[in-house]
Order: sequence, then structure tokens, then C-alpha cells
Amino acid sequence: MHIDVLTLFPEMFASPLSHSIVKRALEKAKLSIELIDFRKFCTDKHKQVDDYPFGGAPGMVIKPEPIFRAVDYLKEERKNILGHKPFPLVYLTPQGETYSQQIAKEFSEMDYLALLCGHYKDVDYRVREHLVMKEISIGNYVLSGGELPAMVIIDTVARLQQGVLTNIESAYSDSFQTDSLDGPYYTRPREYRGYSVPDVLISGNHKKIEEWQQKKRNEFTERMKK
Ligand code: ADE
Repeated sequence: MHIDVLTLFPEMFASPLSHSIVKRALEKAKLSIELIDFRKFCTDKHKQVDDYPFGGAPGMVIKPEPIFRAVDYLKEERKNILGHKPFPLVYLTPQGETYSQQIAKEFSEMDYLALLCGHYKDVDYRVREHLVMKEISIGNYVLSGGELPAMVIIDTVARLQQGVLTNIESAYSDSFQTDSLDGPYYTRPREYRGYSVPDVLISGNHKKIEEWQQKKRNEFTERMKK
């Protein structure tokens, strides 16, 4: 799978892309990512990406030109992967549909995805009307830009690529994809600062342990629904 990220702050991605499972996905060529600084697509001398909103409002709005031109460029560059499919541009905004494991799975099954990170107040609405295919929010709060949400999408999608997770890691994620949550885990030492591991886990009684684990999974799942 290939993901293009359209951003004004490509340097923000350096660390999240160079550790752990995302790093592994990139190294195994299960995923490739290109960071596109769309400021480069401005045609004016000062490469100014933003301007005041018409009608007056506080804050600045990203101009349509650099985004439309960046997308023109990408449509041409990615013709071989895209074929005749519409350009799958996803805009990260708190006004979008709330991201979920279900959407992550849908994205992970695509060969190509383009993520548009906004900044400042918003992007010019014509971008949203005429270029964007889907708008995604990662939760009901306002971040300074779409970069962190784009990293969330990249992480979730990277771990769903075939051959990225080990069997044990996948088994863990599979339980996450069902409607039930995992329960608590403990490791050594049996007692730490006076806090001990539940007796049942060291009882050696596998039936009792399994019942206890199932009970905890149910409790955690119920708690999430509240
Ligand atoms: N941009 C700013 N806040 C956001 C959020 N919560 N989700 C997605 N994109 C955003």
C-alpha cells in the first residue's frame, strides 16, 4: 500500500515513521509513504499558503491553489496505482466521521490513500467540496492540525498490512476487532510495593483462570460502553 501525506509540516512525521511497527511495515515494503509539502505548489513568489477568510472571521484559511495543484500532480504521478479510480483524498478535520477500527480496516485494504492535513483555521471549502472524498476526525477535540490524526491513521493501517505483525501480535489485535475488549495482564514480580497479583492467576487451576479472564473481559467491555 502507498500513502501520500499532504502537509505543511513534513518534519513532524520523522519520529513516528521510524519506530516500532510502522518502521517494520516500511522496511518490509508492506507500506510506502511520501510526505508532500504542498507549500511547494504555491505559484506566488513568497509561497504563501494561507489568506484571510472572505466575509471576515478570525484566523487564516489555506488557499485552494496549492492543494488543487498538489492533487493534480499526484493524480498524474499515481496513475499506475489508481487506474480509473477516483482520487481517494481524506481530509483530517474535527468535523469528519469519527475514526474507528472498521474504517482503519477499509483503508488498509486500499492500494493507495492520500491524507490531507489542514492547519490554521481550515482549508478553503472548495477543496472539501470538490477534491476530498472522505473527512475523518480522530475524536471530539481540536488539534492544531491534521498531522497527528494522519499519524494515527498510518499506524492503524500499517499494522493491518499482511505480514507486518507477528502471529502473537495479530492474535492480540484480532481480539480488539471483535466487540470485546481485552482484560488485565500481570507479570513478575508477584508482589510489588505491597500490590499483589490476583491469587487465581497463580493458582495453577486453568479452568478457574479462564473463567476469571472471561469475567474481566466482560467487565472491561461493559465499562467501555458506558
Ligand atoms: N484536526 C484538528 N483536530 C482534529 C481532529 N480531532 N481530528 C482530525 N483532524 C483534526
